[in-house]
Amino acid sequence: MSAEPLEIHLKDRDLARELRHDVRVGLTATPKWLPPKWFYDARGSELFEEITRLPEYYPTRAERAVLTAHADDIARLTGAKTLIELGSGSSDKTRLLLDAFSRHGGLGTFVPLDVSVSALRQATAQIAADYPKLRVRGIVADFTRQLDRLPTGGRRLVAFLGGTLGNLTPVERAAFLSAMRSAQETGDWLLLGTDLVKDPQVVVAAYDDSAGVTADFNRNVLRVVNRELGADFEPEGFEHIALWDADREWIEMRLRARRAMRVRIAELDLDVDLAEGEEIRTEISAKFRRAGISAELVSAGFVPRAAWTDDGGLFLVTLAQAG
Ligand code: AVJ
Repeated sequence: MSAEPLEIHLKDRDLARELRHDVRVGLTATPKWLPPKWFYDARGSELFEEITRLPEYYPTRAERAVLTAHADDIARLTGAKTLIELGSGSSDKTRLLLDAFSRHGGLGTFVPLDVSVSALRQATAQIAADYPKLRVRGIVADFTRQLDRLPTGGRRLVAFLGGTLGNLTPVERAAFLSAMRSAQETGDWLLLGTDLVKDPQVVVAAYDDSAGVTADFNRNVLRVVNRELGADFEPEGFEHIALWDADREWIEMRLRARRAMRVRIAELDLDVDLAEGEEIRTEISAKFRRAGISAELVSAGFVPRAAWTDDGGLFLVTLAQAG
């Protein structure tokens, strides 16, 4: 079967409005910040794929190891009819699950959901070609606020992989997990990938690689604002910073102005002044403990049924059921 036409629940217009709102709020705040979702235009998505192949960036490899070892358990335990993947991107690791479901039988539909039309077009076409018996329904939507758009019917498994949950603040995270629970029927499944707390040096290296790919990825948000909102950021005028916050157990990425500057954001009719050394926070990526994530799932109304790590104990994949 070829992939069905993408279902678009997010118009370019809505995205543009949201970007304008986020940039105005974030760059007029103290301290300044920008949400990480704006990294991922076509170039940013490619840079992220490049990050996943860096020697220092362990999460993707560690999560793949877990899925390789336990995809069959996941297919057997859930017996899902529909697999929904949030923030699916290239859907690369998901193939491990699709392969396991092909061996096990029963999965009829795969629903990748992402904000990126380009990533979804590619992913749905390739998956449909490689899994001819599967119905492939790509949905363009923002999983932070459109969980009510998930398809209904049949036992569902929602996969939220890669550690992306860690990009939300603790308050946003609780809201997201509760909304996820509300969007599901009792008995539906959630497969959640979370990066684990470990030696801070290992984490910092993963977010400040020696080839400078993460630095380029970080600066990409400025290129997006330049292109979409007619701003005149000089990306090279900012230093890439990756900072471990030991209290909150998250890594923060920031962009630090190398000199004082005024940036014009034409479409907002806004001038933003930055002092030398002033920073813009562009991402948090929280690292979890097993007991912590399990408690957060329980608070949101899920029952954790299984949890696996890779041999190095770097990354955790939890399978929970809506209770
Ligand atoms: C794709 C959100 C999981 O937080 O590790 C990679 C993004 N940022 N390097 C992460 C990212 C810097 C990544 N996630």
